[in-house]
Amino acid sequence: MSAPRGGYALVAPTASGGPMPDVVDLIISDHRELQRMFEVLRTDRSKRAAMAPVMSTLLFAHSRAEESEVYPRARDAGVEEDVEHSQKEHLVADQLAERLTGLDPESDEFGEVLDELVHAVTHHLEEEEETVLPHMRERMDADSLQQLGERFLAARAEHLGDQPDDMTRAELEQQARNLDLSRSTQRSKAELKDALEDEAEL
Ligand SMILES: [Fe+2]
Ligand SMILES: [Fe+2]
Repeated sequence: MSAPRGGYALVAPTASGGPMPDVVDLIISDHRELQRMFEVLRTDRSKRAAMAPVMSTLLFAHSRAEESEVYPRARDAGVEEDVEHSQKEHLVADQLAERLTGLDPESDEFGEVLDELVHAVTHHLEEEEETVLPHMRERMDADSLQQLGERFLAARAEHLGDQPDDMTRAELEQQARNLDLSRSTQRSKAELKDALEDEAEL
């Protein structure tokens, strides 16, 4: 599919018409958009205040949709280790995005946390594109990949605008399942949150 047009960030890629892209196309399209925003955030300080929340919103919705729809399906397709690793990287990215949101975009600290986030997420996107996504293309048929794309977009739309504090117990449990953490259902929400925080490899 064609690259997203400049300025589009949160509109579903199918809005422009054409054949329905599959889940891998949709995920890669989001990755390119995130990388475009990283570049602007790093190089144009005047856009930081306006663009940082847009970037965090897209990152948050993209990650939640991967966790609820894509990672469980990828686990079923036999890529458990890649999924566990990717899920840990989401936990790190969320922590960094939350820190960034609380900082003054004019401050030096914002620049430092931004660098950390861009470094961590760029690594994550590259790894996803080299491991989880090609394995899914190898192991799933075209119809399944397309249907999964529809579910990914629906979940992503549902999460646009959510804040980290809005994470439900069910979503935390899903993260724990993606990590193959045992006994997650016997824990309180706070215990689950602590256990997931311990898994974030900062
Ligand atoms: Fe991704
Ligand atoms: Fe991801």
